[in-house]
Amino acid sequence: MSASPIVLTHPLVRHKLTRLRDKTTSTAGFRRLTRELSLLLAYEATRDLALVPRDICAPSGPMVGEELDGKKLCFVSILRAGNGLLDGMLDLVPSARVGHIGLKRDHDTLEVSEYYFNMPGDVPGRTCIVLDPMLATGHSAAAAITRVKEAGARDIVFACLLAAPEGVAHMQEKHPDVRIVTCSLDKKLDENGYIVPGLGDAGDRLFGTR
Ligand code: URA
Repeated sequence: MSASPIVLTHPLVRHKLTRLRDKTTSTAGFRRLTRELSLLLAYEATRDLALVPRDICAPSGPMVGEELDGKKLCFVSILRAGNGLLDGMLDLVPSARVGHIGLKRDHDTLEVSEYYFNMPGDVPGRTCIVLDPMLATGHSAAAAITRVKEAGARDIVFACLLAAPEGVAHMQEKHPDVRIVTCSLDKKLDENGYIVPGLGDAGDRLFGTR
């Protein structure tokens, strides 16, 4: 059974997302908002990390605190727009490793093929958080997650700024074990595969291209 996507409803997220969608937001503003939102996504995506007790001396005396049990993280960016989510994630978890996957889609056959794959060596022991700002058809995300699983990952979260119902359904069919964390579940895809209402082309807005 696949879980429903986790949608962040915090007022800060809703505020920043509105600014992000606004087509008058500059490239610099878009980048800054993406970084801030990705930090908030990382907060939610890491909610299930296990804790262990730790004895410490607080100023008022000894106490038993908690710390992460040492389970390591790997952020996996789906190029190129996934890179926009990396900095905010790394602000929160600076010790995480980073993998990259480059995928391209044939316009006629719609087949996804891989042009780049680089992951740290110890993936099986890490929770992998796969990053792409837009979960549109879900084909690239599902293909990337298949590759991450082939590299040995067992515990995987997919984090995005926006998700379309079509993309969520595809992911739930292909990878029901993968939790999806997003800032918004939007209405639909348009005839060109763009999310509606969406925010346009995330890569172009992040990098100031086109
Ligand atoms: N990729 C984007 O950048 N935007 C969309 O709306 C869909 C896919």
